[in-house]
Amino acid sequence: MSDAGIGTMPRLWQRAMIWLACNKNLARFMQANPLTCNLARRYVGGADRAEALACVGRLREKGVCASLYYLGEYVDTFALVEQNVEEILASLATFNGVTPSIFFSVDPTQIGYSVSQALGRGNAARIAAESAKHPGIAFIMLDMEDPLCVEPTIALYQELRATGAAVAVTLQACLRRTEQDFERLAKLEARIRLVKGAFVAGKDIAWTRKRDIDAAYDSLAQRALSQEMKSSGLYPIFATHDDRILDRLKPILKANGWQPHQYEIEMLLGVREPLQASLACEGHTVRVYVPFGTEWWAYTARRIGENPANARFVLQALLGM
Ligand code: FDA
Repeated sequence: MSDAGIGTMPRLWQRAMIWLACNKNLARFMQANPLTCNLARRYVGGADRAEALACVGRLREKGVCASLYYLGEYVDTFALVEQNVEEILASLATFNGVTPSIFFSVDPTQIGYSVSQALGRGNAARIAAESAKHPGIAFIMLDMEDPLCVEPTIALYQELRATGAAVAVTLQACLRRTEQDFERLAKLEARIRLVKGAFVAGKDIAWTRKRDIDAAYDSLAQRALSQEMKSSGLYPIFATHDDRILDRLKPILKANGWQPHQYEIEMLLGVREPLQASLACEGHTVRVYVPFGTEWWAYTARRIGENPANARFVLQALLGM
């Protein structure tokens, strides 16, 4: 198979699903339809906070930590932004004194960045203030959205860190700029989550072939586990389901003396659960991303797009199976 042919169909499928994820009319239709709501079951931890907390409890029983994420990205009205922020604050408040640590994933566009940066920054400060009431337990994890969001998200991360907030940031290996961003940010006990990237970007700013994205991830992950990064106190979070990459990291973890409390492997709810369990059994710190809420379409469509084999879930849901 020629280079151009490798991964072309999966990329087309992914692009189509990302396009559908952005369609607000389709989102309204899907989220209101009991048949299509079945689609969300696989990837979403519950329709509300109580269901999500029950899901976090079940993970804890399996020795797995959690990240909570209240669904609702790219919102552009004050009312919806405020609803998102209130839900994040209320979720944070429930974690008083509970261990192990819990991450609260926050998309800048869910807390006001689609309205104005000032609104988003103000709301991030409110969330940081609530999380500071739970030291060592609650961490804010800034998710990374489309390429236009990268600069403001990194600026927000730096601003929150400067105030001493317990905050981490996500970097996307698919972006060409990420190597430099990583070198700049991976200092002074930073917490950085590495993902391959779930948004479409042009060749001028991103690696677009799967094998190039995988290679970029590999290289960043290996750099994250170097002795130099360990000495700087970096806390790397490898958010991937790619067992080949994880297998290549294991000997480096061992050779450089990384202990389970110094790094994490994070995966999504409903994806490669046997792999999550076996990594936890091997003694790695494993965290699972638990989205919850009723605005599930955009998130679920991107997840379905990540694997063409997921087309069967769409068919099953539509046929009521
Ligand atoms: P890859 O896509 O190569 O998959 C590796 C293996 O896992 C394959 O066998 C594949 O089939 C399987 N797999 C992966 N995804 C699957 C799915 N949805 N359903 C079924 N099987 C699947 N992205 C982003 O741009 N910004 C962000 O903030 C985040 N945040 C984030 C947090 C966490 C905890 C995770 C795990 C991922 C993200 N992502 C993200 C998504 C990320 O960028 C990426 O799109 C997915 O993780 C898929 O890439 P993998 O690294 O798993 O590799």
